[in-house]
Amino acid sequence: MWRGTFAALSLCVFIGTAAHAETLVERGSYLVNTVMTCGNCHSPKGPAGDIPGKHFSGGLSWDEPPFKVTAPNITQDKETGIGSWTDAQIKTLLRTGMAPNGAHIAMVMPTGFYHILTDRDLDAIVAYLRTLKPIRNAVPVPIYKMPQTEHVLPGAEKPFTEAMLKDKVQRGFYLASISHCMECHTPMGPQGRLWKTRLGAGGFEMPGPWGMSVSRNITSSKTKGLGNWTDAQIKLAIQHGIDKDGNHLKPPMGFPYYANATDDDIDAIIAYLRTVPPQD
Ligand code: HEC
Ligand code: HEC
Repeated sequence: MWRGTFAALSLCVFIGTAAHAETLVERGSYLVNTVMTCGNCHSPKGPAGDIPGKHFSGGLSWDEPPFKVTAPNITQDKETGIGSWTDAQIKTLLRTGMAPNGAHIAMVMPTGFYHILTDRDLDAIVAYLRTLKPIRNAVPVPIYKMPQTEHVLPGAEKPFTEAMLKDKVQRGFYLASISHCMECHTPMGPQGRLWKTRLGAGGFEMPGPWGMSVSRNITSSKTKGLGNWTDAQIKLAIQHGIDKDGNHLKPPMGFPYYANATDDDIDAIIAYLRTVPPQD
């Protein structure tokens, strides 16, 4: 039943975007509400997920050794949201993590994966954010206990061009980057994420209201990763949170957001995952 509903929704999005030339706002809405999972952090949650009518008005909080922050209100409210930010300020924040006051925001916001955004997609995200109806809601000011830095995904340091997105595996890498898959799925060493030695190996612990989630191996390893999974099985895991053995996966991976991504985009992400060197 659930699967049917989700499949129908995905189909609507697909037809909706394929049938006519997509406007900037439509492209931005698609990115923000599906693969980029912005609302997974920036929308307040109730027991049934995002609270209706309150989307993007401020969300989850993190209290960790380097910082204590809440995902801010990113609606167009001028005082408590980003309504008075210029387009350039929003773009700089998304692509570099630098706030208008010159401070680097907490690394919770995955800006190190957004350097890769094409100019068009960056414009599209800003155009869509401008359409969000203002909601008044002030979140606590961030507290930084040390200077903040970004985790930049190797290969995602520079903006892609639209031409680079024509290749399926490259587009899959692009989408996986802005979906920050490898942030959760790559373990941390003392110097940060182990991009070079353990990319996609899993094993990163994420405690939360759901208990403890430990990310899994999504490399092409046939024994420990996705090497023996079919495309359909990987798709079901990404979009509906059901693994190869039929178990339901726990948050914080944003399954309901990925559920509405187009088949084309999920296929491209899978094509990229097939190229991730095996890790055991
Ligand atoms: C994994 C969680 C997470 C995701 C995903 C995420 N953000 Fe954030 N974002 C945060 C947090 C936390 C902060 C605040 C960090 C701080 O205060 O240092 C933030 C800050 C911001 C800010 C600065 C707002 C302000 O008032 O300072 C903007 C704008 C923003 N995010 C937009 C977005 C957009 C657009 C997306 C999707 C493309 C997104 N974020 C995805 C967690 C997230
Ligand atoms: C916010 C963190 C986070 C992000 C982002 C994320 N994941 Fe996950 N993912 C997890 C966790 C944690 C699990 C395991 C959940 C559990 O054990 O219940 C998981 C499970 C999976 C599984 C199931 C694997 C298995 O062996 O059962 C796949 C496949 C997967 N993720 C792929 C992806 C892809 C592809 C992306 C990007 C499009 C992604 N994930 C983004 C945290 C994340």
